[in-house]
Amino acid sequence: MNSDQHILVTGGAGYIGAHTVVELLSAGYKVTVVDTLERSEYRMIEGIESITGIRVDFHKIDCLDFVALDTLFAANDFSAVIHFAAYKSVNESVVKPLEYYNNNLGSLLSVLEVMKKHHVQDIIFSSSCTVYGQPDQIQVDESAPFKTAESPYGSTKQLCEHILKDVATDGFRVISLRYFNPIGAHPSAMIGELPIGVPNNLVPYVTQTAAGVRDKLTVFGNDYNTLDGSCVRDFIHVSDVASAHVKAIDYLNQQQKGNLFDAYNLGTGQGVSVLQLVKKFIEVTGVKLPYTIGSRRPGDVEKVYADPSKINKAFGWSTTYDLGQSLIHAWQWEKKIRNLKGI
Ligand code: UD1
Repeated sequence: MNSDQHILVTGGAGYIGAHTVVELLSAGYKVTVVDTLERSEYRMIEGIESITGIRVDFHKIDCLDFVALDTLFAANDFSAVIHFAAYKSVNESVVKPLEYYNNNLGSLLSVLEVMKKHHVQDIIFSSSCTVYGQPDQIQVDESAPFKTAESPYGSTKQLCEHILKDVATDGFRVISLRYFNPIGAHPSAMIGELPIGVPNNLVPYVTQTAAGVRDKLTVFGNDYNTLDGSCVRDFIHVSDVASAHVKAIDYLNQQQKGNLFDAYNLGTGQGVSVLQLVKKFIEVTGVKLPYTIGSRRPGDVEKVYADPSKINKAFGWSTTYDLGQSLIHAWQWEKKIRNLKGI
C-alpha cells in the first residue's frame, strides 16, 4: 500500500488524467485533483468515484493561478505531481498559438515554482510523440532528435521538455512520458473521452459516425507509402497509458534522491494503419461504419510507432489491452454517453 503518499494530479478530470486517477487510487495512493473543467466535465470525477468507490479530493483550480496552487500545497503534503493540465488540439493550436504557449508553458512554470517553494521534487510530465516531428526511424526510440514541430501544440511539448531538463539540475526528478495515440475508455464505461465539437482525432470520429452523429468518416489519404496506403500509428488503450504513470511513481520511489530527467515512449510498439483500425472496429462491434477516402490532412506524419523497450525494461510495464478491446471500450463509452444501449 502507498496510502502515505499523496499525489497531485493536474488536469485529472481530463481523458488521460481521469484514467490515471483511477489507477492511482486502485494502487492505494492518496490523490488530489485540480482541473479548470474548461475542457472536461465534473461527470469524469463522478465516474472515477463510481469505479473506485473512493471520494475524489477535487479542486477547481487553474494551474496558471500560483496563489491558489500555493494555498493547496500549504494545506497538503504532496510527494509528487502528475502534470496533465494543458491544451491538446493540434488544429486549434495553429489558430491560437499564443493561447497554447501561454497556457501550456505558463501552467508548467507555475507548477514548478510552487513545487520548488514547497520542496516537492517529483514530477511526471504528459508529453507526446509529436516531439519527434517526422522522425527518421519509423519505429522511433527516445534517442531520436526533436525535429521541427508540426504545430504550436507540438512546440509547447518540446519546450516543456527543455524546461524540465533544465530544472532537473535544480533539485527536481522528472519523468516525461511521450504518448503515442491513446484510445478507448475505461472497461466500465464510466469514464472516457469527451471531445468538444467535431472530433479531430480518429477514434472519437469513428465512434460518433457509428452512433449516427456524423454521416461518414473520411480516411485522410490512401496514397501513403504504407501497407494499404493509409497512415500508420501506434494506438494504445488509455488505461494502459494510465497504468504507466503509476509505474513511473513507483519507479521514482525506488531511485536514490538526486536530480533526474528521463523520457520514455509510451506506446504498444505495433504500427496499425487507419484502414486496419476501421476494419477492426467493424469486426469487433458488428456496427456499420460508413467511410470514404479523402485527401491527405496537412501536417500528418506518414507512419510512426513506438519502440517501447526502454519503458518496458525500466518500469516492468507492458500493455494489457489489444486494439480490438480498445475499440470495444471506445464504442461502449460512446453508447453510454449517447444512450444508445440498443445499438
Ligand atoms: C496527433 C499528434 C499527437 C497528439 C494528437 C492529439 C502527431 C504525430 N501526433 O496525433 O501527438 O497528441 O494529435 O490530438 O502529431 N484520421 C482520419 N480521419 C479522421 C481523423 C483522423 O483519417 O477523421 C487519421 C489521421 O490522418 C491520422 C490518424 O487518423 O493518420 C490519427 O489521427 P489523430 O487521431 O488525429 O492523431 P494524430 O494526428 O496521429
